[in-house]
Parts: sequence; structure tokens; C-alpha cells
Amino acid sequence: MIIFGIETSCDETSAAVVKINRNHFFVLSNVVSSQIKIHQPYGGVVPELAARNHIKNILPVINQALIEAKIKPNQVDKIAVTVGPGLITSLLIGVQTAKILAYTWQKPIAGINHMVAHIYANWLNNKLIKFPAIALIVSGGHTELVLIKNKNNFKKVGQTLDDAAGEAFDKVAQLLNVGYPGGPIISRLAERGDINAFNFPRPMIEKDNFNFSFSGLKTAVLYTIKDLPKKLSDKQLADLSASFQQAVVETLVAKTIKAAEHFKAKTVILAGGVAANKLLREQLGKKVKGLKRDFLMPDFSFCTDNAAMIAAAGYFTKNTPWQKLRVDPNLEIK
Ligand code: KG4
Ligand code: ZN
Repeated sequence: MIIFGIETSCDETSAAVVKINRNHFFVLSNVVSSQIKIHQPYGGVVPELAARNHIKNILPVINQALIEAKIKPNQVDKIAVTVGPGLITSLLIGVQTAKILAYTWQKPIAGINHMVAHIYANWLNNKLIKFPAIALIVSGGHTELVLIKNKNNFKKVGQTLDDAAGEAFDKVAQLLNVGYPGGPIISRLAERGDINAFNFPRPMIEKDNFNFSFSGLKTAVLYTIKDLPKKLSDKQLADLSASFQQAVVETLVAKTIKAAEHFKAKTVILAGGVAANKLLREQLGKKVKGLKRDFLMPDFSFCTDNAAMIAAAGYFTKNTPWQKLRVDPNLEIK
């Protein structure tokens, strides 16, 4: 089966071709056109600009995905497109384009939940997944713990009460004036910093639930810099980044391990843009292995937004007549 995936929920225009043969996933192409440079001057994604650039990029990206996969549209068995959650004007462009393809190529189409697709990015590893599993999804807009009872039964068991983990990285990067997106920049700065230089809180770590809260941590960074000279030295930037990153990672790891033990998960799955964070990959991996459970994380290229994960999710998602496919910017895992 060959699935054509399309993703335009935020600021990446992406199209991918994934072939599935006896439950093995082969990514034949995964073209991602990132708009980072366009949004950088604003310190975050500007929805209007994102939509305009999706319009500009979507057809060239689709064309490139077919060329790289060396396939023709008539070889596609199914189209999968992100219907939510995300920016409504960005989603509309992917969904409308996918509907036109479904109509002209005469192919079935499935609407995909972007968060579920982040989890399915782990299926691209082709490893045996034992259930129940606990997934930590950490992205720019969401931080969630999801219980997976079997390959298509998902239940949200915890979430952030305010900022998402990626959002905290992005906002702290803004406070430190080091650029956008914050995650990769902070983690690079953190490499030369001391994790114990500043004592930031580990929010909600003792609470008897699986929820998160990151806005207080961001405020703690804000108050700390208020007491420092206006122009931060390289050492101060590195130390602030390292101490902040350590606080975020420790919190994410503690809550995920708590959920894994509570739900007797056989596998712990990491997903979403922040899954590209090396410290999180290392520290969560170490803790999970210590508990003698399986640990799965996507390759770096399948952590941040991409259409290969949308195509993978398409394999598990029912088709919808194209006339009935709708965007849902607030779509959730229930
Ligand atoms: O999943 P994603 O690409 O988009 C959303 O669905 O939101 O996630 C983007 C988020 C951004 O907040 C970005 O700062 C964060 O992922 N991110 C990272 C790293 N790479 C990307 N956060 C921490 N460390 C990283 N290496
Ligand atoms: Zn995402």
C-alpha cells in the first residue's frame, strides 16, 4: 500500500510518500519546506504569513515528493492529510489541496489528527511495539501523556495546564533574545552551560496526577534575568539555558515515568518537536531502560512536523468521502 501524506498545520509545508508492506513502513520521500526564516524576525509563527507561504509551496512540495519517491499519482492507494489541531488558515490549504487530489486522482482520503500522527512517527522505526504503551507528546502547542492500549486506541491521561514544553523553550529564547525557534537554540547554548548554576522549579513534579505546567518556570527565568545585567554574557546565557533545559527535561521525565508505572506500560514512546531534544532523549531513555521497559523515539527528521508521520497515521485511519472532510483546528485526543 502506498500512502501520500500532506501536512500544513503550522509553519512547515510537507508532503511524503510512505509504502507499507506487511506492516513494514518505508519512507520513499519526505519533503519539508520550513518557514523558519520567514517567521524568525517576529519571534514566533505569524498565521497570515504561514498560510500565504503554504499556498506558494504546496504544489512544488507535492511534486517534489512524487519525484523523489519515483512514483506516479496512479500508484498512490490513499491520501492522508492533517485536519487538526493547528492554525485554521494553514490547515485549510493542506486539506483543500488534498481534497482536489483525491477528486482528480480518484483516490480515497483520510483526515489525520496531527497529535496522533506525532505518535505514529514511531511506527516508522519498524520495531515491535508492546502494549499498553505510554506516549509523551511534546510539541510547540501541546504537552500530553497518552495511554495507548493497542495500535489505534488512544486516551489522554495528562496534559499541560498552561504553556506547552516547546512553547516554554520558545518563550525563554525570546526572553534571552537568542532567536526562534527556541528549542534547538537553547539546547545548543546549554551544551556549554552548568545545569546547577540557577535553581529553577520542577513544576507539578510532586502532584499526584499526570499534568504539567510550564508558565511558572518561564516566569522564574524572567525574574532571574531581571537581577542580572541587561547584556548577558555568553557564560550567563549558557548557564541559564542549561539550568532551564534541565528543569524542563527532569519534569517531563518524572511525570512520564510516573504514568508508565501507574498504567503498567510495557513501552514508553517519545513524540513531537521537543522529542528532538538530545537531553530529553538521553534522560528518558535511560530511566525507561532502568525500569526494563521498551523505549521508542523517532529519528530526528520525524520529530518536528513532517508528512511521513501523517502518511503513517493514514495507514491506521478510516477514509472519509472527500466531500465530508473538514478541518478542525481544536481537534483533541480525548
Ligand atoms: O511538533 P512541532 O514541529 O510543531 C508543533 O506541532 O508544534 O514542534 C515544534 C516545537 C518548537 O516549540 C521547537 O522549539 C521545539 O519543538 N523543538 C525543540 C527542539 N527542536 C524543536 N525543543 C527542544 N529541543 C530541541 N532540540
Ligand atoms: Zn507538530
